[in-house]
Amino acid sequence: MVRLAKAHQPLFMDNFWQTINKPIIALAPMEDVTDTVFREVVLSVSDVDALNVVFTEFTSTDGLCHDKGRPKVIERLQVNASEMSLLKSRNTKLVAQIWGSDPEKFRLSARMISEMNLFDGIDINMGCPAKKVVKNKSCANLINYPELAKEIIYATAESTDLPVSVKTRIGFSRINTEEWIGHLLETTPAAITLHGRTRKMMSNGPALWEEIGKAVILRNQSGKLTRMIGNGEVTSYAVAMSRIHQYSVDGVMVGTGVFKNPWMFNSQPVEIDISHRIELMRKHITLYQNTWGNGKDYNVLKRFFKIYLNGFSNAAHWRDAFMRADNYDSAMKLLVRMANEYYSI
Ligand SMILES: Cc1cc2nc3c(=O)[nH]c(=O)nc-3n(C[C@H](O)[C@H](O)[C@H](O)COP(=O)(O)O)c2cc1C
Repeated sequence: MVRLAKAHQPLFMDNFWQTINKPIIALAPMEDVTDTVFREVVLSVSDVDALNVVFTEFTSTDGLCHDKGRPKVIERLQVNASEMSLLKSRNTKLVAQIWGSDPEKFRLSARMISEMNLFDGIDINMGCPAKKVVKNKSCANLINYPELAKEIIYATAESTDLPVSVKTRIGFSRINTEEWIGHLLETTPAAITLHGRTRKMMSNGPALWEEIGKAVILRNQSGKLTRMIGNGEVTSYAVAMSRIHQYSVDGVMVGTGVFKNPWMFNSQPVEIDISHRIELMRKHITLYQNTWGNGKDYNVLKRFFKIYLNGFSNAAHWRDAFMRADNYDSAMKLLVRMANEYYSI
């Protein structure tokens, strides 16, 4: 079926992916990680130009379109007022990521998301490799169903004025970068974020940046304005810059690198001492408690603690202690004890 890319072409010239400063540096969508709290924590210690796009966790279109499912998934699209004011003051863009397999549900979800007036863009997940999602025609499995993938992009773009982008991989069971990206480019998405592994590779082996480079060349040959963002093992600002220069991507997206160093989005390396770690952890716990209270599993918060509790003497001891603390109060008391111990040195 030949489709006229009616809805998204005219918007294309003035969407934020075109007007934002380059290089684009994005914080990846990560389930149970990049909620409004963690995004605010990271933004609060990042340079304006070294982090200019952030993504929500992936959110199910089935859930959004179902009266009973919606309350379960909608917290993924929560944006605290404090995060919003930080985003506005920095001119950092916030993109809602959605997933599913039914174009009609994408259409409805895109409308819903636009009406929230919180987001600058909508991203479609065509990369998640998890069994629970690829068993349906969704996420990375859409690589095997390019016509459905295109229908989903068109349906989403037709029902929103927000720019529509795609996050995907270089193939499903084999590397198939050019054919797959060729399909996506036909729909002129506002941006494509390409993770340099196939679905079969999951998170194993090195990310294949040469494949990402091939996708950039294909985009250039196509004459499309689609921004190309590379993703995979960007662990520092210096690595980000080197990938951008070597592979001519418009930007990079950082996922797990932020776990090693939440201060990595700074053009000059930041000297981090124990007081920075304690203060950022305090901010995270306080924001998390104020935002989610007992409405979200406390264990999700606990998983973040190792981000802050490393790189100083006796860090392992404190990690153990925090792993045993099972509520906000105990964690805050431990934090005070830690501050007393280290600041009095
Ligand atoms: C805990 C976790 C959750 C993730 N959740 C999502 C998600 O919701 N949507 C998505 O597109 N990718 C998700 N990803 C994949 C990341 O966005 C990213 O593509 C991946 O971590 C590779 O980038 P990296 O090498 O910089 O970590 C997730 C990854 C991790 C580790």
